[in-house]
Amino acid sequence: MNVLVVGGAGYIGSHCVRQLIAAGHNPVVLDNLVYGHRAAVPEDVPFYPTNLGNEKEVGKILRKEKIELVMHFAAYAYVGESVTDPLKYYFNNVAATLHLLRCMIGSGVKKFVFSSTCATYGVPEKMPLVETMPQAPINPYGQTKLDVENILKSLAHANGLSFAAFRYFNAAGAAEDGAIGEHHDPETHLIPLAIDAATGLRPPLQVFGNDYPTPDGTCLRDYVHVDDLSRAHIAVFDQLAKPGAALFYNLGTGTPTSVLEVIRAVEKVTGKTVPHTIAPRRAGDPPALYADSTKAKTELNWTPKFTTIEPIVATAWQWHQANPQGFRS
Ligand SMILES: NC(=O)c1ccc[n+]([C@@H]2O[C@H](COP(=O)([O-])OP(=O)(O)OC[C@H]3O[C@@H](n4cnc5c(N)ncnc54)[C@H](O)[C@@H]3O)[C@@H](O)[C@H]2O)c1
Repeated sequence: MNVLVVGGAGYIGSHCVRQLIAAGHNPVVLDNLVYGHRAAVPEDVPFYPTNLGNEKEVGKILRKEKIELVMHFAAYAYVGESVTDPLKYYFNNVAATLHLLRCMIGSGVKKFVFSSTCATYGVPEKMPLVETMPQAPINPYGQTKLDVENILKSLAHANGLSFAAFRYFNAAGAAEDGAIGEHHDPETHLIPLAIDAATGLRPPLQVFGNDYPTPDGTCLRDYVHVDDLSRAHIAVFDQLAKPGAALFYNLGTGTPTSVLEVIRAVEKVTGKTVPHTIAPRRAGDPPALYADSTKAKTELNWTPKFTTIEPIVATAWQWHQANPQGFRS
């Protein structure tokens, strides 16, 4: 299948491009490189440094590359910034996506895979999270993702768009062959920050709160390997053959892992101490967030290869060790 990967130079999108190639598909990347890295995309993959909201350019790409399906990874994803600058988030994550969708429908491209997030659930009352639980985001970032989910539902009904919205938990790790990995700037994700603290590239890690009602007092999250996430995006292709399919899936391993357990895994894998300090809780951090991914497992036959934290950290360490400055190395 000819697949346009919007945001394909970013962390998850670039891993998905490689999984698409491995599965025999033809990815084409669109990314304005506001956060992505050209070096994360293989040189022989067609690359368009375009804004996803540019309908004229996107229309040309859809026609020229005979695109059959669009995967949409491009968004701003800094929760704190979304609170202080919500317009930036609504314009990029919602308004630009509307342009992309209008362009697709106008060009007759009606299959769509969307990067949503567990942040759409807000602060849930029960764990693990199943797809039918209430969605009540507590920040503009989560709200922009829920808004797009709702827009997609309307388009499935009115225009026959077939879509899957994947609600990711914490994407983690790097390509198993060490070719690419995680490089956000600024970086806010725990595993790269803990690795950089261990190697002395960054200051000691801040652990936000150790008085939560969890076994060791630190927050529990669900770390899912980036290649496992990517494989789910391809496993859903058959389901999208049906016009108007409107699909929602949680993607996580279902294994809750605490911040201190991540630190211990990084120490074990790297053989180095992770210097860390205990800082106050952050507003809006739920004590625990982990997925029930039974639906993806049953309907897509999706089985995450990585189910525990240490092997995930090992892939991240392999890439960070070889590329201490990320794609700048
Ligand atoms: N990383 C996670 O743990 C996680 C968890 C839940 C959901 N998500 C979602 O998954 C998606 C991918 O996350 P990521 O960590 O790979 O992010 P990322 O920032 O590494 O990748 C996003 C890419 O989109 C590009 N982009 C942004 N706005 C654009 C625009 N207007 N036009 C063209 N390109 C644009 C950026 O340059 C970047 O390469 C995001 O939508 C994010 O909200 C990520």
